[in-house]
Amino acid sequence: MKSRYHSVYEGWLQDPAAFWAEAAKDIHWFTPPETIFDKDQGVYGRWFVGGETNTCYNCIDRHVAEGRGAERALIFDSAMTGEKRILTYDELLVEVQAVAAVLKGLGVGKGDRVIIYMPMVPEAIFSMLACARLGAIHSVVFGGFAAHELATRLDDSEAKVVISASCGLEPGRVVAYKPLLDQAVDMAKVKPDCCLILQRDQMHAVLRYEHGDMDFAQAVEAEKVKGTVVACEPVAATDPLYVLYTSGTTGQPKGVVRDNGGHMVALNWTMRNLYGVERGEAFWAASDIGWVVGHSYIVYAPLLAGNPTVVYEGKPVGTPDAGAFWRIVEEYDVKVLFTAPTAFRAIRRDDPDGDLVAKHDLSGMRALFLAGERADPETLKWAERVLKVPVVDHWWQTETGWPIAANPLGLGLLPVKHGSPTLPMPGHAIEVVDDAGHPVPAGTLGNIVIKLPLPPGCLVSFWKADERFRTACLDEFPGYYKTADAGMVDEDGYVFVMARTDDIINCAGHRLSTGAMEEVCAMHPDVAECAVIGVADALKGQIPCGFLVLKNRVERDPSLITREIVDLVRNEIGPVAAFRTVMIVNRLPKTRSGKILRGTMQKMADGLPWRMPATIDDPVILDEIGEILAKHGYSCNRQALSA
Ligand code: COA
Ligand code: AMP
Repeated sequence: MKSRYHSVYEGWLQDPAAFWAEAAKDIHWFTPPETIFDKDQGVYGRWFVGGETNTCYNCIDRHVAEGRGAERALIFDSAMTGEKRILTYDELLVEVQAVAAVLKGLGVGKGDRVIIYMPMVPEAIFSMLACARLGAIHSVVFGGFAAHELATRLDDSEAKVVISASCGLEPGRVVAYKPLLDQAVDMAKVKPDCCLILQRDQMHAVLRYEHGDMDFAQAVEAEKVKGTVVACEPVAATDPLYVLYTSGTTGQPKGVVRDNGGHMVALNWTMRNLYGVERGEAFWAASDIGWVVGHSYIVYAPLLAGNPTVVYEGKPVGTPDAGAFWRIVEEYDVKVLFTAPTAFRAIRRDDPDGDLVAKHDLSGMRALFLAGERADPETLKWAERVLKVPVVDHWWQTETGWPIAANPLGLGLLPVKHGSPTLPMPGHAIEVVDDAGHPVPAGTLGNIVIKLPLPPGCLVSFWKADERFRTACLDEFPGYYKTADAGMVDEDGYVFVMARTDDIINCAGHRLSTGAMEEVCAMHPDVAECAVIGVADALKGQIPCGFLVLKNRVERDPSLITREIVDLVRNEIGPVAAFRTVMIVNRLPKTRSGKILRGTMQKMADGLPWRMPATIDDPVILDEIGEILAKHGYSCNRQALSA
């Protein structure tokens, strides 16, 4: 079948408002929008102004009202506990309504913030939807973050209520969430009124009733017994649905704000047109609700479009083996699987010949989508070979909420170029510019930017920080959104995303800021200065690597200091930082103006070609860095290219 992509993209380009007005017809509106796009509202304009809607209504009630209440809505499968649970829309409505009733009873209403700090359990999704039902704004915090990160989010969001669990389950260890939450609440300047705690059988938490703790299950059960009905609160299309904090260039995370109307319109459009699934077909985003992929494609998009969604607690490998994904795909007849390339590298490492793939009937699976980091062609080709379905690399960010570039299965696949996430999706006009903002010729590396306005579903601003949003994303290239990704567009329009232009690294599909890690290392009393860079890793894509200069006269055992610093990062940011490699150096390489040459150090560590920076202060320091890297087992490139 010839792809309809080009005609659809052209249609959008000709008349963006008409394109999105058409897509908006698939959403239920209490009051239809008066204006599809108002360029004078918000930071760069706002979508569907005047419209009133409710995201929870569109995800659940609407399906029930249309007679699909008995269909599968949410499939929960825990490889950690063996628990399996399938909920229909009718059942999901009961659960979500009960959580909404509890929140309402606690005084949560339109515009109030609720933090959700939970493992991958259905109650986490019920809680997100319950907030949406009330018009409250949720902010989900990934379970692998430590107390300090949680406290930062409590303060910034000024959350009224926190919903959490007694524990999360990681292979070989039970992660006690409650002590982390207690520490965070104690640390935070803005305390929540109440913490609702889901007690899990694997570990019960001690509730601090004097601090307003409540047992989640008991409270919800009481509302179910009462049969409390909580109607969906009509909210403006432009009202926030959620704030998702993501790594920025400092230790202070950025609260990405997503609205209700544009978000629903865009996500709903992608399910059929991009992912190629029809109503009723199971969709599985093997991610975590703490990340944007989880928000968009575990929770909202599948439920909006009427696709049963899989909520999986487990890992791609080791729970119990590299066949875990294939068991799920077969058992629930998953049509489309979406995950991060790192998960596939882990599966390939443990099952190189695809023996475990062959043990399962995957005949229903139509495609695999990969995102979150660059899909290395080797892994991609391996996945194509063992799965025998199209493997689609697609590119997006927490900020955009849905794919910027992809190969749209629903519109008909385009020819694949390995290493490229293919072409821009409608809504996104991509350009590549040099540092001065001038367009570069096809095939030339530069800054990837998106022409404003951003399409529906992208961030509208940072939480309470319009100016920070402008400075970080809009000011550098006027008229464009700066993706902070570097890459190129070739002569066929294919996009190639190569690297970040800031200090963000992607470690095992998790977005981390090396700047934030530097801030933590610098807190150690023995550290004079430090640099953290991301170095290539065969499994995780990149891992952080710290270089520390100790203060004069520090005579303590250096191995003790490095251990303390590893622990400090783990305790301040969380285990997800995967910060284990620390090297003590005498000096850091810098330019004459004092800028640390992180990029050069990274190229050396990765064994890539590099040039001696013309502005380097003392080239000998790079020799010292090379020596230390070699001592730590890096097959680094110590020789600069000749000029
Ligand atoms: N709660 C608490 N701790 C968590 C956690 C969570 N939700 N998620 C990860 N961690 C911990 C891990 O247990 C690990 O702890 P450890 O240092 O004690 O071993 C640490 O954080 C680092 O985790 P990770 O980098 O994920 O490494 P891993 O070895 O546990 O797993 C993979 C490696 C590749 C299997 C795993 O990272 C993975 O499945 N990645 C896919 C990620 C993804 O889907 N991203 C979303 C984008 S689509
Ligand atoms: P996150 O906000 O966690 O989704 O991370 C977004 C960043 O991940 C992007 O800015 C890219 O650097 C990277 N990324 C995501 N998907 C891809 C992809 N398909 N190819 C290359 N990089 C990607």
